[in-house]
Amino acid sequence: MLKISSTSALVINWTDKNLYQGKKTKQYIDALDLSEGDVLLNALDKAQHFMHTQAISARKYFMLSKASAFLEDCHNKNTCGQVVIMAAGLSPLSASLAEQFPKSTIYDLDLYSMEEKSGLLNNLFSNISFIKTDLNNIAHWAAELIKNNFDSTLPTLVIFEGIVYYLEKEVLINLLKWSKAQDASIIGDFCLPPELIHEDYQIYPFRVFEVIRNTLSLPPITFYPRNEFCALLNESGYKEKEVESSPEIHLQRTGNQHPFEISNSGWIDFWRC
Ligand SMILES: C[S@@+](CC[C@H](N)C(=O)[O-])C[C@H]1O[C@@H](n2cnc3c(N)ncnc32)[C@H](O)[C@@H]1O
Repeated sequence: MLKISSTSALVINWTDKNLYQGKKTKQYIDALDLSEGDVLLNALDKAQHFMHTQAISARKYFMLSKASAFLEDCHNKNTCGQVVIMAAGLSPLSASLAEQFPKSTIYDLDLYSMEEKSGLLNNLFSNISFIKTDLNNIAHWAAELIKNNFDSTLPTLVIFEGIVYYLEKEVLINLLKWSKAQDASIIGDFCLPPELIHEDYQIYPFRVFEVIRNTLSLPPITFYPRNEFCALLNESGYKEKEVESSPEIHLQRTGNQHPFEISNSGWIDFWRC
């Protein structure tokens, strides 16, 4: 079993177990040892676990459903699209897409975990490329993509899941501009500033970031109000966009509003262009 970092384990622990249906994808998830996440899990109470399970499951549902719809559309148009996942980490998203769409290529980019992930997935899939890189170094990963047969003439989706929080604004804009230059569709999420969240719900992002910061010395999170993030997309060349809140995505996923009955109760927004 592959022992994985505490934050990766936390995210996988908080993902709806029924989201990923593919046999090989489930085999990959079962091969991950999540025990490193226990130190973070034990520092949070039952209410925190419940709320973060809803929020992370909404995030995973959004990325998987939008990326699957993109590749399905390509398939219906007799072309095989490609997907670039920025800061993919150990997320099963690439495995799930590769399993559903064997003719499409998926590119996982991350500073860490790429060798280990490739070790677990290489025997199961031939259509995922693993690129160990620093996203700040565009020249490096853009060249690695080409080496791995990235084809800028194919319909492309670039995914920014769980990474906008950790990138400097200028770096993010460069990544978005690179995507625009490929004529790529893009999807992702960002975290709202605590003061814009309903006061009864501020404790959820506040406490989880506090526990992560105290346990692991990670850099501070970058928050964006929705209008600021939309301006950043505009500046990067993406004029047409759709932004949805976590309560909206949670409702789509579960058919139920609980526990996000209040409109500004979510701390993550989801966007696509
Ligand atoms: C919160 S995790 C998200 C992982 C995955 N996208 C998901 O949503 O499950 C953040 C990821 O960003 C990666 N990361 C952070 N800064 C990076 C950088 N400068 N270059 C490449 N990867 C980076 C980390 O290694 C980690 O895998």
